[in-house]
Amino acid sequence: MSLRLLVVAAAFAVAHTVAAAAPIVIKYSHVVADATPKGQAALKFKELAEKKLAGKVEVQVFPNSQLFGDGKEMEALLLGDVQIIAPSLAKFAKYTPKLQVFDLPFLFDDIAAVDRFQGGPKGQELLDSMTGKGIKGLGYLHNGMKQLSANKPLRTPADAKGLKFRIQSSDVLEAQFKAVGANPQKLAFAEVYQALQTGVVDGTENPWSNTYTKKFHEVQKYIVESDHGVIEYMVIANAAWWDKLPADIRQGLKEAMVESIKYGNKVAFDEAATYRQKVIDEKKAQVLPLSKGELEQWRAAMKPVWQEFESDIGKDVIDAALQANKL
Ligand code: LMR
Repeated sequence: MSLRLLVVAAAFAVAHTVAAAAPIVIKYSHVVADATPKGQAALKFKELAEKKLAGKVEVQVFPNSQLFGDGKEMEALLLGDVQIIAPSLAKFAKYTPKLQVFDLPFLFDDIAAVDRFQGGPKGQELLDSMTGKGIKGLGYLHNGMKQLSANKPLRTPADAKGLKFRIQSSDVLEAQFKAVGANPQKLAFAEVYQALQTGVVDGTENPWSNTYTKKFHEVQKYIVESDHGVIEYMVIANAAWWDKLPADIRQGLKEAMVESIKYGNKVAFDEAATYRQKVIDEKKAQVLPLSKGELEQWRAAMKPVWQEFESDIGKDVIDAALQANKL
């Protein structure tokens, strides 16, 4: 072999070794701030996966709709442009109508009940329900109970009449606001602040961590403690990508995911009260508790939505969710 050929062969061998050793890049994209339960879970996943699988994987986390916003992230996952996302369960109806159960107003008493439902047989069935559509459910992740906000105090459903509310892309949430005579508008999360600020919409609903980290309380005069629903997530991967991973890497990622979800859930439970207090302390929006009687009015006005979606969701699923309140 000539010297020139030897050099080329050696260079090729080096390049090949480098290529073989390059870590698998995993993009994890989401729409909220780093300081939220989902943001913290994603960063924890990066830390744990890169520790467990040192040199074998590189996890890149993209918060705040930086890489893909609401409208695009699912499509990007299916195309393989991103490997892991964690959309709100309100954004899955197209893939599994049963997941709409999580949007039913006044269904879950609290996040502990949601946790029991998700861990039970129906919850686990729903987690596995989209593999045939290219979506691998890796786990549920908590955020918290939603509060209603607007520029007027929403004490009873009559106060919401005629107001425009930003909603996630969910038909259940659309029905929920229509049930109180309001005008719901589906908007991506990244557009909410501006829509509230410029008056494109009058109000919205979100848990404390999202409200605080996205400063919605700075552009809303009143937040009522309605706890009328939940924002919860499913962490998902592109199923084909996940299945093709080398077994040791898939196992390491699985373990990192379980631990990161535990961590994010702890943040969700521990920090909800902290974010609520921060919103109160900043005094930009007034936080109003609702009396039992006022809450009853909201519940009665929104409850017909259950019936409307019962055949889509399944009575068995709704019953299992109700059962989780009682345990
Ligand atoms: C929203 O769109 O309000 C939420 O789904 C955002 C999120 O991911 O918490």
